Amino acid sequence: MHCTRKVQDDLIWVGADDRRLPFFEGVYGVPDGVSYNSYLLLDEKTVLFDTCDKAVYEIFFENVAYALGGRKLDYLLISHMEPDHAATIESLLLRYPEARILCNAKVKTMLAQFFAADFSARIDLVKEGDVFSTGRHELTFVMAPMVHWPEVMMTYDKTDKILFTADAFGTFGALNGRLFNDETDFFAENLSEARRYYTNIVGKYGSQVQAVLKKAAALEIATVCPLHGFVWRSHFGDFLEKYLLWSSYTPEEQSVMLAYASVYGHTENAANILATKLVERGVRVRMYDTSVTPASYIVSDAFRCSHLVFAATTYNAGVFVTMENLLHDLAAHNLQKRKVAVIENGSWAPTSGKVMRDLIAPMKNIEFIADNITLKSALAADQEGALDALADAIAAEINPAPVVSAAAPAAAEAASAAPVALDVDGGAFHKFTYGVEVLTTCVDGKDYGCIINSAGQAASGDPKKVTISVIKKNHTADMIAKSGKFNISILTEDAPFDLFKRFGFQSGRDTDKFAGVTWTERTANGIRYIPEYTNAVLACEVISVQDLDASVLFVANVVEAKVLSKAPSCTYAYYHAHIKPKKNPAPEQKESWVCRVCGYVYEGAELPDDFVCPLCKHGKEDFEHVVPVTKKKQKGYVCTICGHFEPCDGELPADYTCPLCKHGRDDFEPAEQ
Ligand code: FEO
Repeated sequence: MHCTRKVQDDLIWVGADDRRLPFFEGVYGVPDGVSYNSYLLLDEKTVLFDTCDKAVYEIFFENVAYALGGRKLDYLLISHMEPDHAATIESLLLRYPEARILCNAKVKTMLAQFFAADFSARIDLVKEGDVFSTGRHELTFVMAPMVHWPEVMMTYDKTDKILFTADAFGTFGALNGRLFNDETDFFAENLSEARRYYTNIVGKYGSQVQAVLKKAAALEIATVCPLHGFVWRSHFGDFLEKYLLWSSYTPEEQSVMLAYASVYGHTENAANILATKLVERGVRVRMYDTSVTPASYIVSDAFRCSHLVFAATTYNAGVFVTMENLLHDLAAHNLQKRKVAVIENGSWAPTSGKVMRDLIAPMKNIEFIADNITLKSALAADQEGALDALADAIAAEINPAPVVSAAAPAAAEAASAAPVALDVDGGAFHKFTYGVEVLTTCVDGKDYGCIINSAGQAASGDPKKVTISVIKKNHTADMIAKSGKFNISILTEDAPFDLFKRFGFQSGRDTDKFAGVTWTERTANGIRYIPEYTNAVLACEVISVQDLDASVLFVANVVEAKVLSKAPSCTYAYYHAHIKPKKNPAPEQKESWVCRVCGYVYEGAELPDDFVCPLCKHGKEDFEHVVPVTKKKQKGYVCTICGHFEPCDGELPADYTCPLCKHGRDDFEPAEQ
């Protein structure tokens, strides 16, 4: 039975998932499977964009026949001759003997190499820039040599602005019923497999990818159809951003990929101690045992992280085999522009450090940030300092000290002096106008967010800079300190109170603030933003952190910004006046008599002796006299942010913070309840 999906009315996905393939290309484990995408264009002429792997030939041919609906197949367009897309070409051409082939000259050569049958009489050659009309659609061709083989060609549908990208923008993983990028939480669930796919399959050819990305930049693209993974119909720029990083060998994050090869655990022990020291210094570490984790995963994170540490034991007067294989793999994938450190181990003649350096050094733009650390069998007590020094050196690069301006020394001196006691009226600060924003970040795949009213542009120019101030007790502040990046979603006047409650009146320490939301949008940095009730989002990278006692000030570069709507921004004053619910006065309680039988209430201090309940006809003996308890009003303070009432007879302590929203004493006003 066929299993197809519409990309649009006249373009049908006729591909298939393969979940039984153990190793893609015989080497890359695909535990989540893989999809082979093929697309059928139903115009005046019918055109099939590539075929599928032979493993799924049965469903593929059924899909093609169903999608054709009895029409003949006019053309097979071949983008790439690797057999995961080309293995069934011969069978297809036998089944559809009238079909002609659209391909370039290199494809034609490979067709003759892969198949014994001679298809040359059926081939219509195309080249860069040629235009081919299928009726309503006009196709043009973009050569993409070495993305991933030399014959690779992309096709651009000028009519509907669809780019067929061959292997580019693919991902490992079966589609599992989904077809479009917006049918999955791509950046949370699929990005790591897209990265592993790119880095291992195409990673070596960064300059060729950059070349084709430049050509694609001139095209207006509405839809992207790759040969593996999801069809992109929205937010493609976010994925493209990753390709620009990967293909230029630019780290995605300032972090450490620590790979070790250890036979009896002593090298592993040193690696664990270093990882601990790095994490204690606020550095994110991604760590692998090269004997356990397949190299493709480690290669993928080596492309992701800015700093690489390799630790390995000496073996056969060289380096342990799994580390040697990994380093060969990294070199083969053309990894470059990384900071590297090496730890070697050897009980009598340690040589692994030199071998590792010799394998790493030829990679382009590699900087060794420290001398090799040499273990003799195990880390000696007096060597812990060497690991500390290495951790310090890496942390100093990844988490540099806040930028100090020329005026800072004088300012610091002034700040350290005793504050001058002037009259500071807190009300003056309420005269500022503030916007209201949702601040979000992401650490280790978990999302965090809170409400702030402190975001503002600090500098124009390129890159633009913003500042935010976050209460230290707020969990999001800790998480931004870890991730070094955040998003600001600017709220609009139509934002409902529930949104403020979700992000402002509970703590991310014990609650998933995103539980139950239906939106999944993220910016290119992988951080969520709020797509509804907002008019803009800014993605930011922290460049400076300032401790402000109860709060922390982050200065950040804006790396991405987009306008989401024309709705007016919500100000802090608007929130208080129009969004935050007003408290209803408690109903006045009166002295009364309540019928125990039916609940009828007689209001009054005295109930006549001959009174009969008008509902159940019972007499006075069945009534209970209710006298309201007059409660003495309690003095205290109410939080103007979230409404929390804190009983208090005198003054709130200076360091008091709201247990709900974490705002400080300045945001409380006297109240009774
Ligand atoms: Fe998906 Fe290069 O083949």
